Amino acid sequence: MDLAADDRRFLWHPFTQQQGWDEEDAPIIERAERCELIDVSGRHYIDGVSSLWCNVHGHRHPAIDIAIRDQMDRVSHSTMLGLTHRPAIELAKRLVEIAPPGLTRVFYSDSGSTAAEIALKMAFQYWRQQGGDGARRTRFVSLKNAYHGDTIGSVSVGGIDLFHGAYGPLLFGALHAEPGDAADMERLLASHSGEVAAVIVEPLVQGAAGILVHPEGYLRDVRSLCDRHGAFLICDEVATGFGRTGRMFACEHEGVSPDFMCVAKGLTGGYLALAATLTTERVYEGFLGRHEEFRTFFHGHTYTGNPLACAAALATLRLFEQERTLEQLQEKIALLAELLEPVAAIPGVAEVRRRGFMCGIELAGFSVADRAGHQVTLAARRRGAIVRPLGDVVVLMPPLAITTRELRRLVGIVADSIAEVVAGAGGEEPARLAA
Ligand SMILES: Cc1ncc(COP(=O)(O)O)c(C=O)c1O
Repeated sequence: MDLAADDRRFLWHPFTQQQGWDEEDAPIIERAERCELIDVSGRHYIDGVSSLWCNVHGHRHPAIDIAIRDQMDRVSHSTMLGLTHRPAIELAKRLVEIAPPGLTRVFYSDSGSTAAEIALKMAFQYWRQQGGDGARRTRFVSLKNAYHGDTIGSVSVGGIDLFHGAYGPLLFGALHAEPGDAADMERLLASHSGEVAAVIVEPLVQGAAGILVHPEGYLRDVRSLCDRHGAFLICDEVATGFGRTGRMFACEHEGVSPDFMCVAKGLTGGYLALAATLTTERVYEGFLGRHEEFRTFFHGHTYTGNPLACAAALATLRLFEQERTLEQLQEKIALLAELLEPVAAIPGVAEVRRRGFMCGIELAGFSVADRAGHQVTLAARRRGAIVRPLGDVVVLMPPLAITTRELRRLVGIVADSIAEVVAGAGGEEPARLAA
């Protein structure tokens, strides 16, 4: 069987221009060991983006593997509609224990997009059910360049033109605030007084925008502006959650408790599709009523709260304690900062942005057709690391479990790859790479 030929014949890859895919020669990953992916020809690659920002404790961690196998011996899937099960219950309890104070209810789904979608729908329906002035709260405020997923609701609060522009006529038209600018948020909320159901933000770091880091205190300011204007705050911790920024949740850095918190990605350690939208008793109670009042939250997916995924998540959270993951991480964050200093000085690098273990290296001087970020990906792959760019921003997002040795190697490979691409483009001159 020719896997590469069958891939080209039968697959359509996400976020991928398929024209030209045939020449890419993408590795076919067969297995993994800790922080390395291994392809069918036995080549090893450091997983420099945590398999799309979700791997936490490394691949094939024995504790997570065993937890999933153990659950598989009981039941792999059973619905949460009308039934319940032990891993979903235990995980909900644990999530409430570790979440910022006030988040006391857990609603499961299966991706970051659905977690955001659910928060939006819950906020909207909550206000409708309040009636009176509350029913006027039908609008959402999001940040320019925001990314909350690819379903129509989450795209509606998105602000990345490249991803979202095409769907304009389908969307519900959110209000967009300037990221990091509390005065702009205040202006927007004041000029739409009583109309805003919720403000949705990626706390501290806008990942898909190219790792844009907000100024210190911004999240706290947004929280108090929401309180002052009576709007809910939705924190989308899909990318930032589970240690990415150095604390379990990004909100913790600023002592903020949102009204909704969306988690996914790292929740299962990067093993299985599971997401959760956490909210408060106030919101939960806003949905209570007699059956015939129809205040039910009419939303649920087939695999909502899948038991295997919940078992993986419980094991992932136990490992945070057993392996003192966050404590161990601090030294690696400091090392990453140090290793990136010389990277910022490479010609062709405009800026290095970082918060915790989320890092973006912005290249400058290239045209869109140069695909400089992509060229860096290909060069890094030849050297044994997997990274994936966002346009001309090279993203580094290693598993929290990466060793200091692997981290040094990863940053070294990325630095060499950037230097190669810049040199190939004629140094600091405008680049002329093949598209
Ligand atoms: C902040 C944020 N929200 C939502 C999503 C969407 O998550 P998913 O791809 O699991 O739908 C992402 C994915 O990168 C994200 O970074």
